[in-house]
Amino acid sequence: MRVKIIGSAAGGGFPQWNCNYRLSRAARTGMPGVHPRTQSSIAASADGTGWVLFNASPDIRQQIAQAPELQPAADAPLRSTPIRAVVLTNADVDHIAGLLSLRERQPFAIYATAQVLATLEANSIFNVLDPAIVPRRLLAPTEEMAIRDADGHPTGLVVGSFAVPGKVALYLEQRDHPGADFSSDTGDTIGVRISSVDGRAAVFYIPGCARIDAALRARLADAACLLFDGTVYTDDEMITARVGQKTGARMGHIAMSGEAGSIAGLADVKIARRIFIHINNTNPVLDENSAEHAAVRAAGWEVASDGMEMEF
Ligand code: MLT
Ligand code: MN
Repeated sequence: MRVKIIGSAAGGGFPQWNCNYRLSRAARTGMPGVHPRTQSSIAASADGTGWVLFNASPDIRQQIAQAPELQPAADAPLRSTPIRAVVLTNADVDHIAGLLSLRERQPFAIYATAQVLATLEANSIFNVLDPAIVPRRLLAPTEEMAIRDADGHPTGLVVGSFAVPGKVALYLEQRDHPGADFSSDTGDTIGVRISSVDGRAAVFYIPGCARIDAALRARLADAACLLFDGTVYTDDEMITARVGQKTGARMGHIAMSGEAGSIAGLADVKIARRIFIHINNTNPVLDENSAEHAAVRAAGWEVASDGMEMEF
């Protein structure tokens, strides 16, 4: 099985279009050790030919342009794609807006939870992907599912999905209740376990997670690779950077650092390779020369960048 990180930044990307914080500025000016990143998505393949995307980011056109394996093969029909299916982990803009760029009556399959399918259904713009051509399939919680293309042919990938503590999408929060608790652990946000039918190794992809509980720790034990929510380094980071009023927790994202953070929470879980992904443009680990980047590396974590590839 091959896994390729095609987008390692959180919503907004890095640099973000309207952001003048020091990190976005550094990325824009090409400061050494500060690399631009596109928004949250990975691709996996069991056979190196057909690919399944996990999330469809607003940067998908650029991501396909940067990944030859996601482009039509030279000897393929006039209209074709190696992308067989898209699995969605929530309905956030950074994870579903790219679906709109995949229009053109090209068959592939969409897999998502009941909540995320309901959001696609409720927003008629997604009908640019005619369900008769692009079937929408329910990703049933806890079951391992063989991912199939639009015609029902297996891709060779198997996905297990599980709800994680998270939040409804920002645009589903009610405007008149800004202080309310919009957290959810019933499938608005999921993690996925990706493996190939014939393989032993599984990769966990969890780009959004608000808390690490005993169930998640047990599930991750002995994982070959974990790609985990690296949105913020400290919970109040966006506030201290003066770019926003929300904590990581309020956005449904656990911080990397601190007693309640992900580094501490997973420190004694046996995971062969651990990589932070979905990194926000305020997170100091984006600067490879920062103390925070060094601390994360010393704790045994890697920081994802676009184009990173893994083979299992
Ligand atoms: C998130 O991960 O919290 C969302 O992508 C935020 C957003 O909608 O911009
Ligand atoms: Mn996001």
